[in-house]
Amino acid sequence: MEGKKNIPVITIIKDGPLKVSGDFTLLKENRFPLESGSEVWLCRCGKSSRKPFCDGSHKK
Ligand code: FES
Repeated sequence: MEGKKNIPVITIIKDGPLKVSGDFTLLKENRFPLESGSEVWLCRCGKSSRKPFCDGSHKK
């Protein structure tokens, strides 16, 4: 259905990132948009060189 919103869902990936899916806007500290879309993977291990996004470094 056109114009229908998909609710944001956050999924914890075991030993990995947070998967955010649905319609969302990720804001920077200054509240300006950093990312909008339908799917993003956020680092929660602290090893990513692309924070706040996961770059796969958690697998090392
Ligand atoms: S969770 Fe993937 S790099 Fe941190």
